[in-house]
Amino acid sequence: MKNTRRDFIKTSAIATGGVLAANSFIVPGAYAAPETHLKLALIGCGGRGTGAVFQAMETGHPIKLVAMADAFRDRLDGSLKPILDKYGAEKVDVPEDRKFVGFDAYKHAIAEADVVILATPPGFRPDHFTEAVKQGKQIFMEKPVATDAVGIRKVLKAAEEAKAKKLNVVVGLQRHYQDNYRKTIAKIHAGEIGDIVGGQVYWNDGGVWVRPRKPEQTEMEYQMRNWYYFNWLCGDHITEQHVHNIDVANWVKKGYPVKAEGTGGRMVRTGKEFGEIFDHHTVQFTYEDGTVIHSECRHFPGAANRVDETFQGTKGTAYLSAGNHGVLTDYTGKKLYEHDRENNINPYQQEHNELWAAIVNGEYKFADAENGARSTMTSILGRYATYSGKVITMEEAINSDINLFPDTLAWDATPKLVPNADGFYPHAIPGKTKTV
Ligand SMILES: NC(=O)c1ccc[n+]([C@@H]2O[C@H](COP(=O)([O-])OP(=O)(O)OC[C@H]3O[C@@H](n4cnc5c(N)ncnc54)[C@H](O)[C@@H]3O)[C@@H](O)[C@H]2O)c1
Repeated sequence: MKNTRRDFIKTSAIATGGVLAANSFIVPGAYAAPETHLKLALIGCGGRGTGAVFQAMETGHPIKLVAMADAFRDRLDGSLKPILDKYGAEKVDVPEDRKFVGFDAYKHAIAEADVVILATPPGFRPDHFTEAVKQGKQIFMEKPVATDAVGIRKVLKAAEEAKAKKLNVVVGLQRHYQDNYRKTIAKIHAGEIGDIVGGQVYWNDGGVWVRPRKPEQTEMEYQMRNWYYFNWLCGDHITEQHVHNIDVANWVKKGYPVKAEGTGGRMVRTGKEFGEIFDHHTVQFTYEDGTVIHSECRHFPGAANRVDETFQGTKGTAYLSAGNHGVLTDYTGKKLYEHDRENNINPYQQEHNELWAAIVNGEYKFADAENGARSTMTSILGRYATYSGKVITMEEAINSDINLFPDTLAWDATPKLVPNADGFYPHAIPGKTKTV
């Protein structure tokens, strides 16, 4: 039987007592040249993908960036330059014929690598993840992992295949790799504040970038560049950002809600440059045991910001945030636990430290895709509730056949959502819009 790279990594790791040193990557086979690095490909060369390559390199493992893929050449070039400047030709070897551009670029870049980083807008993740699993690669993929239920079902299917193939998959829900969350939630699960009976999770801030339309752009290129504001690409900010906090609620509750109801709309951010997404959503998620978690996200410039999670138990309360907070109190106000916030490792780094250590040691340790899909689905359930104005069950939501993805991917193809004659896009109207 042909040796796969994984078999090789495993065998080498065993041969070296679990620690794989540089120079030990000798691929089995009569004429194979010695390899000294694990080969990395970046799919989606924007802010986060570029950052993730830096974090991979900073693990200190023998890694070489060998291929890059982006829809746009200028984005690829803009990402490669700082990586090359920092790490040099020894760790960055991306010649012209391994720079892939366009909608099919991902397939070619994935084929060049042992490990892939998937960091495009989330609408593409189901297809890119499916392909990476099909090609048997180790995977870091950013959240969210899809933008509609059709995409989620694809990711769940590929997640099963990844497990069967024992491919490590880490999803960039980095709170799972952040010490304050790990330690505080372990205490919650150990019963320190009793059973969790309620909670509130927030992502309230002023919003994100806008990429203005240029006259030469086709509608497809404009939506791809200004992707945040189109649901087939982004999923709305309840999915793109607030998934982090919703995922914490699921983690604390050790499950996923059974139904959601909520309210949302476009109140302060109504211009045509904001596409179709809402600027606020408030949702009540009900879990199987009757617990209700209140979720709130909004993009109101100038209003109060809040990004954190609180929970009420039968014996006390919990407060968590990405600023390394983790506090448990009883109902007299007495502190039961306070996480030490000093010297905590950046979770974006930690997720790579753990993933790459597993890969280098030939271990199969990470199967994040299913939770990534179910937490992303929870945020989509919230959007289905606010867009429709109806109570939506998870069962209905996950089986929704409303597919946001374009029928054809090409620069001159027409996305499903197009603007009216004045340049404004139709958006959901609660009470009228159908989501399941
Ligand atoms: N975990 C976190 O805290 C965190 C933080 C920021 C972003 N993210 C996630 O990372 C992803 C990327 O976000 P970003 O801020 O880097 O956005 P970005 O716009 O800076 O980068 C996205 C890149 O993907 C490229 N792209 C688009 N479609 C593509 C396709 N079909 N094939 C190849 N490339 C394609 C774009 O041209 C762009 O260069 C999103 O899913 C976002 O939610 C996660």
